[in-house]
Amino acid sequence: MNKPKVFVTRLIPEKGLRMVQAFCQADVWSEVLPPSQDVILERVRGVDGVLSLLTDRVDGEVMDSAGPNLKVISNHAVGVDNVDLAAATLRGIPVGNTPGILTETTADFAFALLLAVARRVAESERFVRTGKWVTWGPSLLLGQDIAGATLGIVGFGRIGQALARRARGFDMRILFYDPQFPPGIRVQKLGARSVKLDTLLAEADFVSIHTPLNEATHHLFDQTTLRKMKPRALLVNTARGPVVDPQALYLALKEGWIAGAALDVTEPEPIPLDSPLLELENCLITPHIASASVATREKMATMAAENLIAGLKGERLPNCVNLEVYRR
Ligand code: GLV
Repeated sequence: MNKPKVFVTRLIPEKGLRMVQAFCQADVWSEVLPPSQDVILERVRGVDGVLSLLTDRVDGEVMDSAGPNLKVISNHAVGVDNVDLAAATLRGIPVGNTPGILTETTADFAFALLLAVARRVAESERFVRTGKWVTWGPSLLLGQDIAGATLGIVGFGRIGQALARRARGFDMRILFYDPQFPPGIRVQKLGARSVKLDTLLAEADFVSIHTPLNEATHHLFDQTTLRKMKPRALLVNTARGPVVDPQALYLALKEGWIAGAALDVTEPEPIPLDSPLLELENCLITPHIASASVATREKMATMAAENLIAGLKGERLPNCVNLEVYRR
């Protein structure tokens, strides 16, 4: 029997790739840069499945180019904003993602960024390397304390809650905003309380973003919301870049509406080298690596392979984001 044909849009960690190659006839894009949209449209022709990354746009055109054999789209990420879910559902194609396994790793990194921006770690390192460290100074590179500070978590799903667990251990006061929770709910075991977004912005010393990217959250952090934050507040984003309007953030950081930001995600990605955000000492930027631990990336690859293979076999995906396809 012929093996099903799949397009894998990048080299994924070995264990997952081996699973895919054992079950499928896999066309694997092995370049460092993602395939262009034209290449994707070309390479998916006639495939039974696609294993995509968050850098690939998988829209209705891609699905139609693949044609009637397409049985599954497996995204190697928990976020699926790069996949047109409505278009997939309309065509009866299940879409898989990789939830759960990256929660702790991502929350670790969000907390690392929070600590780093509070204590100006990246800036201090640049200070040393550029020969500016001439003596110990009582007022040198002063940062902000974590203990006793208020953390505002925007988006209280798995990762937001995992961040709260970490913040609890650092004696922070924890507020959260999530449209799923009406204001005033206390989550006892996390020591967290839900509030309106405006209350969170007005009270938080640290704001950490953990929402999916969708119409409601696109540029949620714009001039209006950033102006509602405290002048000493620090913003952390490990969710998706477009949740923050980069022009508004630049003004906020430059003009001191807020004190600093740490971004693992930007709009666009990668951030262009001439972005004004890169000129600012109070903006720490990392290259979308919050889930990048060896173990987690291996689990993401195997989970993406499991979703792909299940879809190819006509079985229910272990992790499917558009369950409606099974109700048709
Ligand atoms: C990473 O950003 C993911 O969505 O998995």
